[in-house]
Amino acid sequence: MHIRQDGRVALVTGAAQGIGQAIAIGLKECGATVHVADLDAAQVNAFAQANAFTAHTLDVSDRKAAAAMVNAIVAKAGRIDILVNSAGGVRGQVGRPIEEVTEEDWRAIFQANVDGAFWLAQAATGPMRKAGFGRIVNIASGAGLRPSLTGIQAYTAAKHALVGLTKQFSQDFAPHGITCNAVAPGFVRSNPSSERQWQSYGAEGQKRLIEATHTRRTGKAEDIANAVIFLASDQASWITGQILSVDGGRS
Ligand SMILES: NC(=O)c1ccc[n+]([C@@H]2O[C@H](COP(=O)([O-])OP(=O)(O)OC[C@H]3O[C@@H](n4cnc5c(N)ncnc54)[C@H](O)[C@@H]3O)[C@@H](O)[C@H]2O)c1
Repeated sequence: MHIRQDGRVALVTGAAQGIGQAIAIGLKECGATVHVADLDAAQVNAFAQANAFTAHTLDVSDRKAAAAMVNAIVAKAGRIDILVNSAGGVRGQVGRPIEEVTEEDWRAIFQANVDGAFWLAQAATGPMRKAGFGRIVNIASGAGLRPSLTGIQAYTAAKHALVGLTKQFSQDFAPHGITCNAVAPGFVRSNPSSERQWQSYGAEGQKRLIEATHTRRTGKAEDIANAVIFLASDQASWITGQILSVDGGRS
């Protein structure tokens, strides 16, 4: 099987960091025109410039900004074929006892991981339906299927919500040629938060995590990107509503 995305237009959010960046690069290697988006203007702009992508700086949970970005892409390219919702993560938080979690903490994680995916799908599925083709891939987590290694209640709840949204979108949009799937990564040392988490385990904890992983290694951003690229391909047209764990066999 040879995956090509020539002529396709893709939007990848959360592309100032490892996983989003690897997805954007993988889609470009398959021939897609790639737009990248993130809150972090400096990093997403530098990444876009280095790779000939178009950068967008926004908070994906801002409904108007999300719609304006999608409209700008469609105005320029005439289409949007692939939406990868990789923005999210733990927003700098660590696991804490429930009584210490503020309303702001709770909302920040839901906004980044769930609200953005919803508003972007709302904006993108109009043009996708018109074209009779679309691919939505949500980056969930092992924390969307079971309790999180991070211990962050909002992260677990938000990723479970994203899994639910993936299944609902599949039912709603597949009749129009739009598939929606999620990738649930295991532990990937792809950003400062996951690196801090890895260090916090200490030598013993790291050894335990590796031993609980069938492949005996942590993930790489490219491991996640490869799964996304398949789900975003023409070849994956009869796969929808699925949550693909990419975790070295840990689950
Ligand atoms: N690294 C891991 O081990 C791991 C494991 C499971 C799932 N994930 C998920 O993979 C995705 C990518 O994670 P990552 O490891 O590349 O690093 P990350 O979690 O730091 O990346 C998230 C990116 O999203 C951006 N972002 C956050 N909120 C945003 C918002 N409201 N609007 C726009 N951009 C926003 C951040 O600036 C950042 O660049 C995330 O959704 C994360 O939850 C990561």
